[in-house]
Amino acid sequence: VARLTGSPSINCVLYGREAECALIDSLIDKAAEARSGVLVLGGEPGIGKSALLDYAADNRASCHLLRGEGVESEVHLPYAALHQLLYPALGRVDALPALQSVALRSAFGLRRRRCRTASLLLWPP
Ligand SMILES: Nc1ncnc2c1ncn2[C@@H]1O[C@H](COP(=O)(O)OP(=O)(O)OP(=O)(O)O)[C@@H](O)[C@H]1O
Ligand SMILES: [Mg+2]
Repeated sequence: VARLTGSPSINCVLYGREAECALIDSLIDKAAEARSGVLVLGGEPGIGKSALLDYAADNRASCHLLRGEGVESEVHLPYAALHQLLYPALGRVDALPALQSVALRSAFGLRRRRCRTASLLLWPP
């Protein structure tokens, strides 16, 4: 049983998720050592994906946390999820290596690019 202790709304236990919680714990430990890792949680509605994310958020120790949620109406917007996830950290974009910084600025429309075509939208006053 893994215990969720953070916010009162998630003050509950997770049954049968010891393996998943151990995996999350190890990713958090690695993150604290600046080592990256990825965990994809998938499954049927109600199976406990968000509960495991809550567990991760609740047990993140001193790690910074960025969290986003998929919004169906934004499915056709390029980089919508990336924007939601990374916008709070945008002030630190200069700390990234140049390549990643340029890529992120481009994705967020913060970088002037040389374009072969240009668009102009005018509307009546
Ligand atoms: N292992 C578990 N032990 C106890 N409660 C659980 C467990 N897994 C899920 N729950 C509870 O079941 C409910 C549904 O879980 P949750 O919202 O995490 O599912 P989900 O996979 O994110 O669903 P959806 O796909 O609809 O977003 C929540 O109240 C959650 O606390
Ligand atoms: Mg969910």
